[in-house]
Amino acid sequence: MGKVIAGMAMSLDGFVTDRHGSVAALYPDMEAMRNSPRLQAAIASTGAVVMGRRAFEMGDPDSYAGAYEFQVPLFVVTHAPPARHPKEGGGLTFTFVTDGVASAVRQARAAAGPRDVTVVGGASVIQQCLREGLADELHLDVRPLLLGGGLRLFETFEGELIALELIGLDQEPLVTALRYRVQR
Ligand SMILES: NC(=O)c1ccc[n+]([C@@H]2O[C@H](COP(=O)([O-])OP(=O)(O)OC[C@H]3O[C@@H](n4cnc5c(N)ncnc54)[C@H](OP(=O)(O)O)[C@@H]3O)[C@@H](O)[C@H]2O)c1
Repeated sequence: MGKVIAGMAMSLDGFVTDRHGSVAALYPDMEAMRNSPRLQAAIASTGAVVMGRRAFEMGDPDSYAGAYEFQVPLFVVTHAPPARHPKEGGGLTFTFVTDGVASAVRQARAAAGPRDVTVVGGASVIQQCLREGLADELHLDVRPLLLGGGLRLFETFEGELIALELIGLDQEPLVTALRYRVQR
C-alpha cells in the first residue's frame, strides 16, 4: 500500500493564496513546474488525489481531463456535489465525497492500489488530514516571497501536538522543498 502525502506550495510567511485568493505568485512558471523532476516523480507515484471543494474550483472542472497533472481518480470533499458532473477521461475520474476527509482518503487509497494518495489541498483538507492522523507525509514547497496576506495554511490549526521528521530537503532558487514524515 502506498503513502498518503499532503502537500502544498506556500510563501515564506505561510500563505497558500494571496489576499485575492490567487495562487499565481506561488506558481510563476507552471510549465517549468510540470517538467520538474520532483513533480514528474510525484505524478509517477500518485495513484489517486484528494482535494477540497474550493481547491477543485480553482480551475474550470471540465478542463481537468487530459490537462491536470494527475490523470488519476480525483476525490473531492464537499457537502454537496455539483449539479453537473465534470468531464472525465484518460484515467481521470471525479468522485464527490460527502462523508468527510477520512472517507475520501479511504476511497482514494482503494483506487490508488500500491501507489500513493496525494492530498493537494486546500488548507482545510490538509489540516483535517493532519488532525485526523490520515497523512503519512507533509510536503511543503516554500517559495521565496512574502505575500503579506491571504489564506494561511495553519491559521486556524488547532489540536494535539504533531511531531514531524525531516526526510527530504531540496534547495533551488525558486523553491525550498521540505519533506516531512508525520510521527505517529
Ligand atoms: N498553494 C497551493 O499549493 C494550493 C493548492 C490547492 C489549493 N490552493 C488554494 O487553497 C484555497 C482553498 O483552500 P480552503 O482551505 O479554502 O478550501 P478546501 O480545503 O480546498 O475546500 C474546503 C471545502 O471542502 C469541503 N469540505 C472540507 N472539509 C469537509 C468535510 N469534512 N466534509 C464535507 N466537506 C468538506 C467544503 O466544501 P463545500 O462548501 O462544497 O461543502 C469546504 O468548503 C483555494 O483558494 C485554492 O486556490 C492552494
